[in-house]
Amino acid sequence: MRNPSLPIKAIITEIRSETGDIKTYSLSLDGVLYNPKPGQFNMVGYPGVGEAPISFSSVTSTSKFQHTIRAVGRVTGFIEGLKQGDEIFVRGPYGSSWPLDKAAGEDILLIAGGVGLAPIRPVIQKILSKRNSFGNVTLIYGARTPADILFREEIKTWRKDISVLLTVDEVPLGVKWDYDTGMVTGLLAKTAVNTEQAFAFVCGPEIMMRFVSRGLFLRGFLPSRVYVSLERRMKCGIAQCGHCQHGTKFVCKDGPVFSYNDVKGLPDGLL
Ligand SMILES: Cc1cc2nc3c(=O)[nH]c(=O)nc-3n(C[C@H](O)[C@H](O)[C@H](O)COP(=O)(O)OP(=O)(O)OC[C@H]3O[C@@H](n4cnc5c(N)ncnc54)[C@H](O)[C@@H]3O)c2cc1C
Ligand code: FES
Repeated sequence: MRNPSLPIKAIITEIRSETGDIKTYSLSLDGVLYNPKPGQFNMVGYPGVGEAPISFSSVTSTSKFQHTIRAVGRVTGFIEGLKQGDEIFVRGPYGSSWPLDKAAGEDILLIAGGVGLAPIRPVIQKILSKRNSFGNVTLIYGARTPADILFREEIKTWRKDISVLLTVDEVPLGVKWDYDTGMVTGLLAKTAVNTEQAFAFVCGPEIMMRFVSRGLFLRGFLPSRVYVSLERRMKCGIAQCGHCQHGTKFVCKDGPVFSYNDVKGLPDGLL
């Protein structure tokens, strides 16, 4: 039996550039059985460099998966310099997942901002693989500019099976953009969901999740039906070091996906 707290070697089989500073890495574990669920994460790193928590951005096979990573610091900057065929180390899969089982048969509203679409993408893949098991599904996705939209080609294929509403903060002069501008909250009114039989999954910057959650409550969603994915600085990933502690909760073990009910009002002012 594999010990999930020990790093295992993964080979980078493909690297795709998504935006200026974000790339998607396809990883293969060479036969090791891995069964991540949408919403869970790996501690990804390299000896002597460090580790960072990174969500699965695709979980279609047991030993092959993807991570979509923005290069912002020590570990992610190191990963950005790696090439196809290079190795990297992962520990996991860790944490809670989006409650797709609970949402079966119901409508789902997915709301993502920026790189927050990465942890939502495996949810969409699961829904598409069992499309008849869910009601209306709508994705609202916001990015800074059109060039910052992730998974651009794939989004076109999602539109065949789910509704997709896109918005950006700004459109540079001369850039063609056929969708909305402004905050994702502005698009909530355009969605057709029966809030009593719907779940909302929200992932993005904390301030965005706060405003989106409020907008969802105004539309009639119960907090127990709104799920958010929280980001905290992490070290161990397994509820041992306290780095990610948020009141009584460990974001690495009890989260990162929480029902709004479980995190509202906790001490560090979140949500
Ligand atoms: C559950 C989870 C899932 C995630 N999934 C993804 C994902 O799918 N894709 C993705 O791109 N990112 C994801 N992240 C975010 C990612 O883990 C962070 O960006 C991580 O810090 C990157 O590590 P690093 O070593 O490259 O950056 P760091 O060197 O840690 O720096 C990251 C940023 O934090 C700042 N910083 C450094 N130290 C501190 C400190 N002590 N206090 C406050 N700020 C500091 C730096 O200035 C820099 O801006 C996720 C985070 C969590 C918790
Ligand atoms: S990262 Fe160590 S307790 Fe969560």
